[in-house]
Amino acid sequence: MDYNELLNKAKSASEHAYAPYSKFKVGACVLTEDDKTYCGCNFENSSFGLTICAERNAIGSAIVYGARKIKAVAIYSPNTKLCYPCGACRQVLCEFSDNNNMDIVLECDEGICVQNLNELLPKGFIL
Ligand code: THU
Repeated sequence: MDYNELLNKAKSASEHAYAPYSKFKVGACVLTEDDKTYCGCNFENSSFGLTICAERNAIGSAIVYGARKIKAVAIYSPNTKLCYPCGACRQVLCEFSDNNNMDIVLECDEGICVQNLNELLPKGFIL
């Protein structure tokens, strides 16, 4: 699948983010090994620590439909800086990757930037 399309889905998802506390909206869209896509957005809570990131929400959406292997994830936030996945999300992405190999698709000024999970989380924990 074209990563532009994946990023567009992440953009649409970011519009539904529930971020009244940080005002930092994020959308994510995962691409599974059988080329299906599942989206998520962040949703915060008055008890701040209960916040769920967009990436983990997207993974949950994929898991509930039986997906287990994710090839790529697009992450979009309508802010000036690129929205790299937080440490916790990197580990959760690792769990559903093929040996820590997954494209992380972000949008930057020059266009789309793609990095691999194994660069962002070297030696991710796998049982
Ligand atoms: N956030 C994400 O959704 N994904 C990330 O990888 C980084 C942070 C959210 C959590 C919180 O709602 C807001 O961004 C500010 O931290």
